[in-house]
Amino acid sequence: MSIVTAKGLTKDYGHLRAVDNIAFEIKKGECFGFLGPNGAGKTTVMKIIHCFMPPTSGDVRVFDMDVIESPGEIKSRIGVMPQDDNLDPDLTVFGNLIVYARYFDIPKKVSSNLAIELLEFVELKEKTDVNIRNLSGGMKRRLLLARALINNPELLILDEPTVGLDPHSRHSVWEKLNNLKSKNVTLILTTHYMEEAEKICDRVAIMDSGRIVVIDSPERLMEMHGGNLEAVYLKLTGRTLEA
Ligand SMILES: Nc1ncnc2c1ncn2[C@@H]1O[C@H](COP(=O)(O)OP(=O)(O)O)[C@@H](O)[C@H]1O
Ligand SMILES: [Mg+2]
Repeated sequence: MSIVTAKGLTKDYGHLRAVDNIAFEIKKGECFGFLGPNGAGKTTVMKIIHCFMPPTSGDVRVFDMDVIESPGEIKSRIGVMPQDDNLDPDLTVFGNLIVYARYFDIPKKVSSNLAIELLEFVELKEKTDVNIRNLSGGMKRRLLLARALINNPELLILDEPTVGLDPHSRHSVWEKLNNLKSKNVTLILTTHYMEEAEKICDRVAIMDSGRIVVIDSPERLMEMHGGNLEAVYLKLTGRTLEA
């Protein structure tokens, strides 16, 4: 069963074509990665999938609903971890979760319990009443993950989930994502870390300048082209993944 399908997807920002006629299909329960350097168009694709902005042209369906026709229904069933930290700096860790839960009309009593559960899941329980200004980068990423899970989403969109994190924090996020995968949550992520793609993605779309060069499992790509994903990327695009 497909969770997301895109055909002929194009996005222009004025004269700049950020996403250029791409197609992909993401199946239920898989972890699908968009791999490419800065500027490849990954965030733009994520924003279109979670109905933050419409495509310039093409068809994008999520849960078999059109992103332009049914944004409300789609948004209620997905969780989004954005590339940039947009937590509310005036609230505590707990407060950030409770306020976010209001967007989904989750009653206060329910959201309080959910928040406690989620903070346990991301190992931030002892930070419950801390102002988010006092969190490390890794803790903020984990809080953004908890926030993305507040509506119990079937599909989780993660834009550079471990960007800027040290190896320990990165592994901790991967562990949470693998845990969600085992619960049959579909994951879509973007990354320019090949290790991340190799470790947690079932399939990756290799992106270069708004286009998808190839879609396959990391294992098959490495087998077909020899070397690790970095070498595959260089071979297929003539570029390195470094931003
Ligand atoms: N709101 C915007 N207005 C104009 N150009 C944008 C906007 N957002 C992204 N871009 C441009 O579109 C291209 C793709 O950006 P983006 O989707 O953020 O790529 P990635 O996430 O792979 O780094 C880049 O050239 C970027 O500068
Ligand atoms: Mg991006």
